[in-house]
Amino acid sequence: MSDYQDILVETPIPGVGLIRLNRPKAWNALRRQLMDELVDAASQFDADPAIGAIVITGNEKAFSAGADIKEMANASAVDMVNSSMIEAWNRLRAIRKPLIAAVSGHCLGGGNELAMMCDMLIASETASFGQPEINIGVIPGAGGTQRLTKAVGKSLAMEVILNDRRLTADEALRAGLASRVVPVERYLDEAIELAAQIAARAPVAVQMAKAAINKAYELGLSEGMEYEKTLFYFLFATEDQKEGMAAFAEKRAAVWKGR
Ligand code: CAA
Repeated sequence: MSDYQDILVETPIPGVGLIRLNRPKAWNALRRQLMDELVDAASQFDADPAIGAIVITGNEKAFSAGADIKEMANASAVDMVNSSMIEAWNRLRAIRKPLIAAVSGHCLGGGNELAMMCDMLIASETASFGQPEINIGVIPGAGGTQRLTKAVGKSLAMEVILNDRRLTADEALRAGLASRVVPVERYLDEAIELAAQIAARAPVAVQMAKAAINKAYELGLSEGMEYEKTLFYFLFATEDQKEGMAAFAEKRAAVWKGR
């Protein structure tokens, strides 16, 4: 891995890539450099056959306070267009392996949008989710109005985005934004364990499952089911499908090859 300034990258256990946002003095504000490094590190893990799932986290006090306001403050609309800021963030969408957000403390603005770009979200009891862009005269720009609405429904998303309502971890769980809430001492370990469990599964099937679920955001039911069916049939071209079904019949553990 490269030398990064704004993130820390490690492999805490085999199969799992861990990326920590590391600008604690600025609540992990997502300046351009941080996002470029994050996308680079995630892409490297994505290309590494030894890695099966990726965890993105901040620290106990903050996942992230969002896009770097100071970096954007004096930009014109044309500057923003030319910066391709959001396009740069969207490169995370190309990551094929599962991304798990391990969230504690502030998860605000672009921080919440980053967490929602991940495929699963594990929250500590202290996590607080919000889209406070309205306070600085803008709206979410990296998917907040779209993904939050799909995750929690229109009425709650309106309150969060139009009136800076913050969601507690339990509210986020009930609304479907997070998949679990755990004590603050456990949130990162829990995310790493989940990543390790997924990393031990049939790799091609995991990637196809991620792709199919994410299509549910974009396609209608009939098109989505066509897409799912195509991937399901495609998996019969893999050695892992033959191995998985043979192992079932032979009552033994499957040995996955990722092909
Ligand atoms: N961008 C740049 N700097 C930030 C920042 C951000 N998003 N959030 C915090 N910081 C900086 C502060 O400016 C401060 O810097 P200095 O020490 O140089 O003064 C430092 O981090 C510490 O912050 P505070 O003094 O404000 O700490 P606090 O404990 O009083 O408050 C906080 C913490 C609640 C997270 C508060 O800092 C805050 O509300 N931050 C902004 C949240 C926000 O509005 N996010 C949306 C950003 S826009 C966006 O994300 C657009 C998009 O959709 C892509």
